[in-house]
Amino acid sequence: MKKPLEGLSVVTFESRLAGTICDLIKLQGGTPFSAPAMREVPLENNPEVFLFAEKLFAKEIDTLILLTGVGTRYLVKALETRYKREDILSALRKIIIVPRGPKPIRALKEMEVPFTVAVPEPNTWHEILRTLDENREKIPVKDRVVALQEYGVSNRLLIEGLKERGAKLLVVPIYRWALPEDTGPLKQAIRNILQNKADVAMFTTAVQVEHLFQVAGELKVTDQLRNAFGKMVIASVGPDCSEMIRSFGLSVDVEPESPKMGPLVVATAEKAAKILEAKRQNDCAVEVYDAILETTAREELDGSVFMKACRLEKTPYTPVWLMRQAGRYMKEYRQIREKKPFLELCKDKDLVTQITVHAQETIHADAAIIFSDILLLAESFGLELEYLKGDGPTIKKVIRSEKDVRNLPGIDPKDSLSYVLQAIRQTRCSLKPGIPLLGFAGAPFTLASYLIEGGASDRFLKTKKMMRVSRLWNPLMEKITRTTIRYLNAQIDAGVQAVQIFDTWAGCLSGGEYKRNVLPYSRQLIASIKPGVPVIHFGTGTGKFLEAFAGAGSSVVGVDHRLRLDRAWQKIGYQKAIQGNLDPKILLLPVPRIRKEVKKILDSVKGRDGHIFNLGHGVLPKTPVEHVIALVDMVHELSRDR
Ligand code: CP3
Repeated sequence: MKKPLEGLSVVTFESRLAGTICDLIKLQGGTPFSAPAMREVPLENNPEVFLFAEKLFAKEIDTLILLTGVGTRYLVKALETRYKREDILSALRKIIIVPRGPKPIRALKEMEVPFTVAVPEPNTWHEILRTLDENREKIPVKDRVVALQEYGVSNRLLIEGLKERGAKLLVVPIYRWALPEDTGPLKQAIRNILQNKADVAMFTTAVQVEHLFQVAGELKVTDQLRNAFGKMVIASVGPDCSEMIRSFGLSVDVEPESPKMGPLVVATAEKAAKILEAKRQNDCAVEVYDAILETTAREELDGSVFMKACRLEKTPYTPVWLMRQAGRYMKEYRQIREKKPFLELCKDKDLVTQITVHAQETIHADAAIIFSDILLLAESFGLELEYLKGDGPTIKKVIRSEKDVRNLPGIDPKDSLSYVLQAIRQTRCSLKPGIPLLGFAGAPFTLASYLIEGGASDRFLKTKKMMRVSRLWNPLMEKITRTTIRYLNAQIDAGVQAVQIFDTWAGCLSGGEYKRNVLPYSRQLIASIKPGVPVIHFGTGTGKFLEAFAGAGSSVVGVDHRLRLDRAWQKIGYQKAIQGNLDPKILLLPVPRIRKEVKKILDSVKGRDGHIFNLGHGVLPKTPVEHVIALVDMVHELSRDR
């Protein structure tokens, strides 16, 4: 019988256990290519550790921040080469100790060394700095000697943050990795990959990824390497390694359930052939992504703060994402946009992935929204959509007559909007596993208004006129609704965790008009979304008919800044979650002002479960990106442990 990896060349970057992993690959029928990417620097060669010890015993260290469990154990082990274990531990018991997360805590428990405060999840440098700020009394930092146990690469942002707070910093790198003495095999591996001679790349620690790209950088082939990886299977031993791979703009195809070499090779063997086949066809096939999606932890997505808030469950802090979080206020977006018209951007799945993921990762939003536009549906109806500089979108073939409505083709978004669905699959695979991806569409009314008016409008006279002629209005709304149902459900199949329906222009209607001519269609749309997937129903200017708007049946209602959030929620009813509603203009003001307004909103809902923080409408193009980053940060901070 053919073995699963037969005929496939598998590059491994493992050093210490290179022989073992090559044997495992051969067992599955693969041909290993061993390219060790790192070398361990012996503990005794760590002068910083002994400098730390001298200061520790001289009582000159005030605080020790422990970043990793392995590093914590190695620190003590290295010191034990010169000092007595009991002396080391008793000196450690006298200083302030701040462990970053569960792993260093476990190491401390083993050694019976107590810690002062633990850093909360997700245990990044953000939370470390926040923990220090919140415990200023217990852990003074200014003018104190703070030792920082590091593992692998330095965290520049953490170091800068500590220095900014006036700490006298003593960096203690415990465990350093260097490039191997002979980088020949690594360079050969890069050449093989560039020449499409390698099928699978297998990473067994995060440092390998960094070293590979370091060498590729020296050879000036970084972009080529990244592209070549697109046609290969990328296998990662576990979450930290995967995170590093993603940070280089690559997606992870295989990650075993348990982060060990054996399961890694087995999981790769199971999936490699199928993934390769599809990756090497011009367009990535659905099965590939399904295979990859199988390996993403659904529980992690389901248990994310955003999804919990949609379900009105308790969360450690208020989740936040922003409408138009990927857009012109970001320098990187403007740079991409200079080279490509908007519509072409929306059709380029690699750029859509890049823009969507970059925005989420830059601002640390709790969810990402697929970069796209509600009017693509108009284009797929064949109505000739254009985005003109400065003027916003226009639709050339507008819908005005009975014939226009009749001629509107019945389309299957799975075909005509397949590029959006492909981009969703790819983006889902590139986002961090715990970050939900949102899909979206225009609500039937807002989309209809574009098809009728041909572009933005301030009074919607033509739309309102058509609304009064039911033989025109009803079939148009029915067609749009039916197509949108298929479109959103196709987005869900492609990998989004929730959907938002934008009824941006609903506010131009009276309550009567809304209830009679719009609500039935929105209700039908929402009722036809796959069960269990949260629907956010967003509108602006909906204050006058908010109860009816909420009555369309979504699990979350999005409101704009013209309403007071607490009053809106009262009207909507507390059995639904609410999303909103900072005025986007506030983000143009200085950060302390933003903070005041954010606090007002958070205070008004008093920490009730089911609030998703957002703006009242999209981020304005002139918004400073630092203000957006600060906003997300302060929503998290001000809502924590409420
Ligand atoms: O929120 C996100 O980050 C996801 C992307 C997204 C865009 N449009 C990207 C976009 C979403 C969710 C939309 C929805 C959308 N599109 C709505 C509903 C929400 C709203 O903002 O009211 C509407 C009405 C549209 C139609 C549309 N598209 C308009 C009116 C415009 C021009 C105005 C503007 O903001 O530029 C667009 C273009 C558009 N859609 C851009 C972006 C990033 C700007 C394109 C550019 O780069 O020039």
